[in-house]
Amino acid sequence: MNANMLEAPSAEECASNIFEMSGAKFEPEIACDLWAKINQHKWLLSEKLCRDVGFRTACIDFLENMEQAVNEYLSYKRKDILNEMGAQTFGREIWDTIADSQPPKKLVQRRIILPLTMEDLSRKHGVSTPKTIIFFGPPGTGKTHFVKAIAGVLSWWYIEIAPSMLMEQGAANVGANLRRTMEKVRQLQDAVIFIDEFEELAPSRDNADRLDKSITNEFLKQVPLFKNECKRLLLVCATNYIGQLDAALLRPGRFDCIIPVGGLNPDERKAILDHCLSRLNVGQIGLDRLVDETSRFTPADIGYLFEQVAQFAFEREVAEHKDYKVTTEDFLHVMANMRPSLTDEIVEQFEKDSLTYSRA
Ligand SMILES: Nc1ncnc2c1ncn2[C@@H]1O[C@H](COP(=O)(O)OP(=O)(O)O)[C@@H](O)[C@H]1O
Ligand SMILES: [Mg+2]
Repeated sequence: MNANMLEAPSAEECASNIFEMSGAKFEPEIACDLWAKINQHKWLLSEKLCRDVGFRTACIDFLENMEQAVNEYLSYKRKDILNEMGAQTFGREIWDTIADSQPPKKLVQRRIILPLTMEDLSRKHGVSTPKTIIFFGPPGTGKTHFVKAIAGVLSWWYIEIAPSMLMEQGAANVGANLRRTMEKVRQLQDAVIFIDEFEELAPSRDNADRLDKSITNEFLKQVPLFKNECKRLLLVCATNYIGQLDAALLRPGRFDCIIPVGGLNPDERKAILDHCLSRLNVGQIGLDRLVDETSRFTPADIGYLFEQVAQFAFEREVAEHKDYKVTTEDFLHVMANMRPSLTDEIVEQFEKDSLTYSRA
């Protein structure tokens, strides 16, 4: 020990005392303050244990408790952020509602779920775990559904950042709000951060005004900061208009995966229809006929169709006072007044975008 314990040691002596006793290095000014606290802790600990503990024991015990206090503080702060940002949790069942044949499901399983749940194995093989993802595709195709499914299957927090939230104090504050929000989410762990309507935050800078350009620039700065965090965090952005995003964001390096979520093939429609039918009071249903008739329906359209059919059947039973079972005819009747979301034009554009932008 460098200093006489009874005299007040210099800042440098405090640093060297702490280093000798615990191996922990502190700047002299900080060490000076800590040394005073360690002295106090030595007295308290001796009182508590009813024996005189040495400086070494007091020093180690104090630093260990300090680490615990820091961790407690961090977990308290995380709770605060989760609360403030309206974090939600989902069960695995959302993932199970998605048909295995749906192409994004296989891809998400391979590139996201497996590497994140088998971290040691992916490290062994040098597989880099994705941290940033874009889902793109027409409205109602299940992008948000996928993000919730991922959070559910990983048992991670789900936090949605709506561009409208960042715009609350006017367009001029969006950049600053985005920076503050991203600083907060970077302190979390085990969380999926979801930004919907992403094109509103990161539009192409080519034709954008000064303000929009600055928001896109801020986003470009935030992505690498997020990727540098090694905690278990996933940033997922979704857009209906991938072509409107700034080109710099789409180049390799910023987003690890760019995944198309399009219309449903017959098998996928069959799986969703089957699942939805289990909630109705059904009679004679030609499932294959329904699969054929819904070729341009998104999952959102199918959801709406079932709501309408359920309401129709309910009203019939109220009017007729007898058990009413839904038939294929009822579906066709409701469909006659519905316009499915997917048109040839939309499907063609989506296929082109898939070729241009997809990356896994
Ligand atoms: N694979 C799926 N299986 C069952 N329901 C789905 C599926 N994908 C989406 N849905 C449902 O369809 C609706 C629209 O999906 P959503 O994820 O909001 O679409 P998007 O975000 O692409 O606009 C939601 O009610 C969602 O629960
Ligand atoms: Mg959505």
